[in-house]
Amino acid sequence: MARSDPLTLVCTLLLLLPPLTVAEAELVRSDKFPVVVSTWPFLEAVRAAWRAVDNGSSAVEAVVEGCSACEELRCDGTVGPGGSPNENGETMIDALVMDGVTMEVGAVAAMRYVKDGIRAANLVMKYSQHTLLAGEGASAFAISMGLPGPMNLSSPESVKKWSDWKENRCQPNFRKNVVPDNDCGPYKPNNGAMTVSGEKRTESCEMGKIEYRPPLVGPHNHDTISMAVIDKMGHIAVGTSTNGATFKIPGRVGDGPIVGSSAYADDEVGGCGATGDGDTMMRFLPWF
Ligand SMILES: *[C@@H]1O[C@H](CO)[C@@H](O)[C@H](O)[C@H]1NC(C)=O
Ligand SMILES: *[C@@H]1O[C@H](CO)[C@@H](O)[C@H](O)[C@H]1NC(C)=O
Repeated sequence: MARSDPLTLVCTLLLLLPPLTVAEAELVRSDKFPVVVSTWPFLEAVRAAWRAVDNGSSAVEAVVEGCSACEELRCDGTVGPGGSPNENGETMIDALVMDGVTMEVGAVAAMRYVKDGIRAANLVMKYSQHTLLAGEGASAFAISMGLPGPMNLSSPESVKKWSDWKENRCQPNFRKNVVPDNDCGPYKPNNGAMTVSGEKRTESCEMGKIEYRPPLVGPHNHDTISMAVIDKMGHIAVGTSTNGATFKIPGRVGDGPIVGSSAYADDEVGGCGATGDGDTMMRFLPWF
């Protein structure tokens, strides 16, 4: 889809697979698989996943390799460390992996001090009975299972972005119905204000004034890699990794690590993933 679209969809159609005979399975294996699909032209990520799956790795392992390559490259500045500062200037990581064979999911949300989101998500899946770990607990778990950290996830670019935003009186931001509505906090509820989807509309009854502001979510400040892989055995897995929306309120978790919201995999049906305005997408579980 065009780069300006609010939603990038990667539905790996992935076939409604009827049960296969051995001969059919062989044919499918040799002719159609593996398959690697990702949101955006994140070619290096797709290549990394392809190298893994082509060499016999499972779909889950390939998804981890693919998303991990994007984290290392900091794809678009919105995946991995060093991007998307929140209101406090801090970068946090969200990631998910789902195995379409076992329906197991591992995910981390608002993870601090650890840069390897998809690997952390995979560790949650492999070494715990949980599905989602959040915040500092996620970091502690990831580090205890062998990932490097704690480390500083900021970069000179994210610090610059954040200080420019502060200088611009913290505009734009994700607050609504608060005062002040045109400056940095601390914020307080303001029941006189209204907000409509995608833009902030402040109505002042006394002055009869309506002010429109541009939407905050655009192609370069919210994005996620969402990837689906079918391995040589015909098994499917999906994964996502992101550092979330730029200038989000600290604690915000978007669609990325929420299963069915950013991606979903089921060997008997297929796999789906997307990126977009996570705060809206996650209300509908579109990929489930
Ligand atoms: C491919 O797999 C073989 C056998 O598991 C391994 O020795 C080799 O290092 C792998 N190559 C790559 C490029 O991952
Ligand atoms: C983290 O890294 C940023 C950017 O390099 C730097 O400005 C900041 O001082 C660092 N924070 C700490 C606590 O070291």
